[in-house]
Amino acid sequence: MPSALHTVNVALGARSYPIHIGRDLLDRADLVLPHLRTKKVAIVTNDVVGPLYLDRFAAALRRAGVEVAVVVLPDGEAHKDWPTLNLIFDTLLREHCERSTTLVALGGGVVGDMGGFAAASYQRGIPFIQAPTTLLAQVDSSVGGKTAINHPLGKNMIGAFYQPRLVLADTATLATLPARELSAGLAEVVKYGIIRDREFFAWLEQNIDALRALEPNALALAIERSCRNKAEVVAADETEQGVRALLNLGHTFGHAIETGLGYGQWLHGEAVAAGAAMAAELSRRFGWLTAEDAARINRLLERAGLPTFGPALGVPRYLELMAHDKKVEAGKLRFVLPKGIGDAVVTSEVAVAEVEAAIAARCAGGNNP
Ligand code: NAD
Ligand code: GLY
Repeated sequence: MPSALHTVNVALGARSYPIHIGRDLLDRADLVLPHLRTKKVAIVTNDVVGPLYLDRFAAALRRAGVEVAVVVLPDGEAHKDWPTLNLIFDTLLREHCERSTTLVALGGGVVGDMGGFAAASYQRGIPFIQAPTTLLAQVDSSVGGKTAINHPLGKNMIGAFYQPRLVLADTATLATLPARELSAGLAEVVKYGIIRDREFFAWLEQNIDALRALEPNALALAIERSCRNKAEVVAADETEQGVRALLNLGHTFGHAIETGLGYGQWLHGEAVAAGAAMAAELSRRFGWLTAEDAARINRLLERAGLPTFGPALGVPRYLELMAHDKKVEAGKLRFVLPKGIGDAVVTSEVAVAEVEAAIAARCAGGNNP
């Protein structure tokens, strides 16, 4: 009997799309076909995910009469760059892919972000589908249309908003995900609880061990609830003019960690977790978050297997790196700060001395990865 299929809709008018969540969805060409313009796709994957899932996914599509071209990229955040992006364009051109060809990203957030940017720019835009295979990609990066590559001076600095036509999240693929990567995905799950879903945060406190053990019902619930949270925010503010900035909790500090250490040293989710701990500390100093709630946040992140202290880059280096954040407006840093569990605000009214103190307080503790 096929396992349950959960669907969340991202409501964007004529560009609305479904997120299908369930086990073994990579075999379900019937879920993909309605979203193709013609029966030709280019699957973009990498040299870790490809050997695990490409043949099966491509075979299902071919059985349904779809022509399949393939691009296999080198794995890793360090390859989220121009030369690797160009490998996608090389194949699309070599394989005579047209404006009607659908680009399908099969992999984690790196493949999804790069595949999406390639789809946004090849021939000024071709149809795009996300088939995320990491927890982080299933709960966050595959949804909402942010696509990008990194620049040596700043994370995700070159990119476009470009929505997929479908997100196909096969939760069975998470069985092969390394535990460290699973924890990284949990950082973004916990994020939804902190910024807008108090009840979900409390549920996570009860179920974090089940999630780390890949208990299927807990996993499906957490992915669906995360996607619902993200879909609501994206539908309200697709291009981050307001409320969508809340999804960047921990990212101002986190991107500084990723760029400062060199892309790929810390996982994105790890950097976001340490960044969320810094944001909680800043908010506590501001008098918004109680010490008890800050401790609850840190405790849940730690139980998820995540760091709650950043690396010792030095406070001035953090500030220098944070100056490249995309939330900087008129030269002023803006921070997402929790005001309680399930409530957060974006503010630029923070004294630099307080930011420095928060970084210093949450740097180089005992639980770095
Ligand atoms: P990732 O894409 O590097 O994947 C993590 C690792 O797991 C890689 O080595 C990958 O090859 C491997 N992998 C993927 N699926 C697997 C599977 N099923 N089994 C075994 N191994 C598997 O990292 P990620 O955490 O998925 O994504 C991080 C990226 O996403 C960052 O670049 C970040 O900036 C981006 N991101 C984007 C958004 C957005 O809204 N677009 C949101 C959050 C993060
Ligand atoms: N990951 C942040 C966003 O999608 O807006």
